[in-house]
Amino acid sequence: MAATTKHRLVKAAAKARLRAVAPYSHFKVGAALLTHAGEIITGANVESASYGLTCCAERVALFSALTAGKRDFAAIAIIARAPGGPMPCGACRQLLAEYAPRATVWVADARALGKIREFSVGALLPKAFLAVQPARNPNDE
Ligand code: THU
Repeated sequence: MAATTKHRLVKAAAKARLRAVAPYSHFKVGAALLTHAGEIITGANVESASYGLTCCAERVALFSALTAGKRDFAAIAIIARAPGGPMPCGACRQLLAEYAPRATVWVADARALGKIREFSVGALLPKAFLAVQPARNPNDE
């Protein structure tokens, strides 16, 4: 992928990070998904007083993209103030394995956006659980 695309996505994730709602951890994370059509969909983490309800930036971005009808993801950038960039949690890896299995994952420290590390979803979650074929529900249509 073009270096400009990578940097554009990283910048979009860094911008999204500024909208994180993290009053408990103060750990702000931004994520930006790139579709094969070139669209960018962003998200940031949102925390709850009931801590377990917190949703990571990656999932906010992914749920936003999916519910906007996007399916075909080429890459995701994830930014936080973390040495080397934030590694996605297990829950987000699972969702990426299901909905963005071929996406390139870029992570960078918010203080060093030019230093981008790259991973594949397969490397982050080998042997992912994907076995169940969702049953067709006639009420869905
Ligand atoms: N968080 C993310 O948004 N993405 C990650 O990859 C790791 C963790 C959030 C969840 C919580 O709001 C805060 O970071 C601290 O765990």
